[in-house]
Amino acid sequence: MNRPEPMIAPSILSADFAHLADEADAVSGADWLHVDVMDAHFVPNLTLGLPVVKSLHRATDLPLDCHLMIDDPDRWAPPYAEAGAANVTFHVEAAADVVQTARAIRAAGALAGLAIKPGTPVEPYLEVLREFDTVLVMTVEPGFGGQAFRAEVLPKVRTIRTLVSSGHLRLFVEVDGGIALDTIAAAAEAGADVFVAGSAVYEADDPAAAVEGLRRAARAAMPPPR
Ligand code: DX5
Ligand code: ZN
Repeated sequence: MNRPEPMIAPSILSADFAHLADEADAVSGADWLHVDVMDAHFVPNLTLGLPVVKSLHRATDLPLDCHLMIDDPDRWAPPYAEAGAANVTFHVEAAADVVQTARAIRAAGALAGLAIKPGTPVEPYLEVLREFDTVLVMTVEPGFGGQAFRAEVLPKVRTIRTLVSSGHLRLFVEVDGGIALDTIAAAAEAGADVFVAGSAVYEADDPAAAVEGLRRAARAAMPPPR
């Protein structure tokens, strides 16, 4: 079996919001474009919403990976799928009915993702992960870019990867927060295969080269499939 290819998802949270189409173009070699939606309720910060996602979808060929850090995702997540997002991830801490919401996202044509904050254990949700295409393990507290990577959450990545490797789940295992050249190997080695990176990409002199550098570092550290 071939080694799995890591996927890199630059986060536009660290991009120039006045030039989002250009900022997407700057990372056209990436796999997904990560779009952080924050509502100033679920997290203290406020970013962007559906109208921007709709416009961005028209402006780039990159699949949009929408990470909803919002209250009431049961109500608001499916419209992001309708707006053209390829993957819509919402937080387990915010949802009333994760299964119903995942099904609504999929019915609207997107992959469904479940995000888990650093302090939230994964064990209670392992069963419902069958309803999802992506699990997003937060490696920082959601809300802001540029925070330090929290290696202590990697056991959650290992737990999920073990279930995927043994055929019990089929999922992308995504990590988000503090991913950079000095941290991506640890996340890859633990079993992540999708890597969100905001500041490590957009604060680099050459964002396209930063994406390639991260991909190389992840590829070198990913364990071979079992
Ligand atoms: C944080 C966001 C992240 C953020 C990552 O709440 O979910 O996607 O953009 O930024 P860095 O890579 O700078 O930690
Ligand atoms: Zn994010």
